[in-house]
Amino acid sequence: MQKLEQIYEGKAKRVYRTDDESLLIVDYKDDATAFNGQKKGTIRGKGVINNQMSNRLMQRLEREGIPTHYVRELSERETLVRRVEIVPLEVIVRNIAAGSFSKRYGVEEGRPFETPTVEFSYKNDDLGDPLIDATHIPVLGLATAEEIGQIRAYALRIDELLRAFWAECGVTLVDFKMEFGKLADGSIVLADEISPDTCRLWDSSTGEKLDKDRFRRDLGGIEEAYAEIMRRLEEHL
Ligand code: TMP
Repeated sequence: MQKLEQIYEGKAKRVYRTDDESLLIVDYKDDATAFNGQKKGTIRGKGVINNQMSNRLMQRLEREGIPTHYVRELSERETLVRRVEIVPLEVIVRNIAAGSFSKRYGVEEGRPFETPTVEFSYKNDDLGDPLIDATHIPVLGLATAEEIGQIRAYALRIDELLRAFWAECGVTLVDFKMEFGKLADGSIVLADEISPDTCRLWDSSTGEKLDKDRFRRDLGGIEEAYAEIMRRLEEHL
């Protein structure tokens, strides 16, 4: 597999073309941003952890029948993925109140939900990724009603699977963000990454935050938290 020119650079990853039209290489950086890029920093070793964690979790989800873009890990920071057209939505599942939910509705962080919720944000940096009502998604031509139904069903199943897995590791999955993509045949697959950058992961007994909120909120101990969550994952795979 030959790595050709870079076609995209995001906040945390670079994407390269390969000599196979249907495959891309993703290269994970240590760069961290928050609040739509207003806060910038580096989390040493994050790229390696996010790459490996996302790949392990996607392999596990694949075994449970969730289609993903994952193909093969190429190196510590690089992964071969299927080329998809990203559906420009951030798909967020919440199990416990935290973050923007708590802020928007004035609910204290840590209050569990009776059933998980799925919400969508429109992936658009200029607009600051606004929350979007599901009925507005087809109006804007971002996805069809049928695609939204499929995405919602995958999101809830992924939540169920990841919650159970993290529970084995003594970790509570509070909420997380996913992105989905469309293959050439129109089918929907899980894309992007699942990592401490995109999940809230709390130690089940102490409540300690083991995710990017340590960076967003200047809590310190960020590298240690990423290393700890990776250690837990590897112990239970
Ligand atoms: P929120 O509570 O800030 O809306 O975040 C919900 C989840 O989504 C949380 O696990 C962090 C993740 N997330 C991202 O992955 N990228 C983002 O840009 C934002 C705002 C949140």
